[in-house]
Amino acid sequence: MRESALYETFARQPLAFERGEGSWIETTDGTRYLDFAAGIAVNSLGHAHPHLVAALTEQAGKLWHVSNLYEIPGQRRLGERLAANTFADKVFFTNSGAEALECAIKTARRYHFVNGAPERYRIITFEGAFHGRTLATIAAGGQAKYLEGFGPKVEGFDQVPFDDMDAVAKAIGAETAAILVEPLQGEGGIRTLPNASLRRLRELCDRHGLLLILDEVQSGVGRTGKLFAHEWAEIEPDLMAVAKGIGGGFPMGACLATDEAAKGMTPGTHGTTFGGNPLAMAVGNAVLDVVLEEGFLDEIARKGLLFKQGLAAVADAFPDVIEGIRGEGLMLGLKCKAPNSTVQQALREERLLAVPAGDNVLRLLPPLTVSDEEIREAVARIHNAAAAVRATEKADA
Ligand SMILES: Cc1ncc(COP(=O)(O)O)c(C=O)c1O
Repeated sequence: MRESALYETFARQPLAFERGEGSWIETTDGTRYLDFAAGIAVNSLGHAHPHLVAALTEQAGKLWHVSNLYEIPGQRRLGERLAANTFADKVFFTNSGAEALECAIKTARRYHFVNGAPERYRIITFEGAFHGRTLATIAAGGQAKYLEGFGPKVEGFDQVPFDDMDAVAKAIGAETAAILVEPLQGEGGIRTLPNASLRRLRELCDRHGLLLILDEVQSGVGRTGKLFAHEWAEIEPDLMAVAKGIGGGFPMGACLATDEAAKGMTPGTHGTTFGGNPLAMAVGNAVLDVVLEEGFLDEIARKGLLFKQGLAAVADAFPDVIEGIRGEGLMLGLKCKAPNSTVQQALREERLLAVPAGDNVLRLLPPLTVSDEEIREAVARIHNAAAAVRATEKADA
């Protein structure tokens, strides 16, 4: 007999949750976990944040969906607020990160098309990247394990080693349209692109007439202590994909663009049925109300530092289990020495949720609203888990 009617595409943990509050989440049998997975950096304001619950339920009583055949006031408002707080002039709302990337890729190609250079459609990407699971975004990410068996790889993506600026310069040709990069790789193993490299990418784009596309699906909306991670490097992209944290748990994404970059996206060139619907916009606006509050982003940077210091002490005590700490703000990773799946399992036994990533890293992505006390509690649990992994490995040796 089959296990379930669901696709077997996910290796799910044997946990089913029923309710959550803030940084805590509770299973159907009443066990409480400290949630430092946050739905993979999605529950930016934790679970059941009163402001988000109020915004969603109020909208749910009025209007759910109208389609983009009509004006959607909440969408116009959120678009204007995102533009006012970023480099962007224009926004296209989607339902997911991959769709935001698809929109950015299409916008970059159209830009060169309307400039009279349709041959410029190729995009340079980086090893270890993750941009989603659509056919174009698996081609952009370039990872063999995600491409295998899905027919010809979508044409037009040239991949270079992570943070290899000479390789980028060499890869630029007459057909290059854009460079696409995550300022801080998430799935790839919490790898930060140095600020100097991001600036160099901006220069290369300017010199060669390319568009710089940032994927801030995971690193955006306050995660690193700035509204968007690229602000640390003091550069601006031409296009940016956003999702995850902007919806606080409601599925939504956005492609942000300058007027110039978006000039090819004329009526009829792109569309979506659900993107930007009133429910999503109500939640997105409510998330921004909190994230843009005076001092909220500074607190993330401060709490990130507190967490990093705590984690560094654990790594110092258990170098045989944790090699080091990576990341910025509240987007941190344990570079594991023991298999990250073993460390993840030990954390689960300590009732702490974390997310595995590439390069044998375990991601710690707490809600941005996490308290100092919860951070200290997480560090204590990670300490206990590391001790348990050491004890088991010794017993097995
Ligand atoms: C950096 C990055 N880009 C794109 C995506 C794809 O987003 P989604 O799963 O919402 O399509 C993800 C998801 O993990 C991501 O981390």
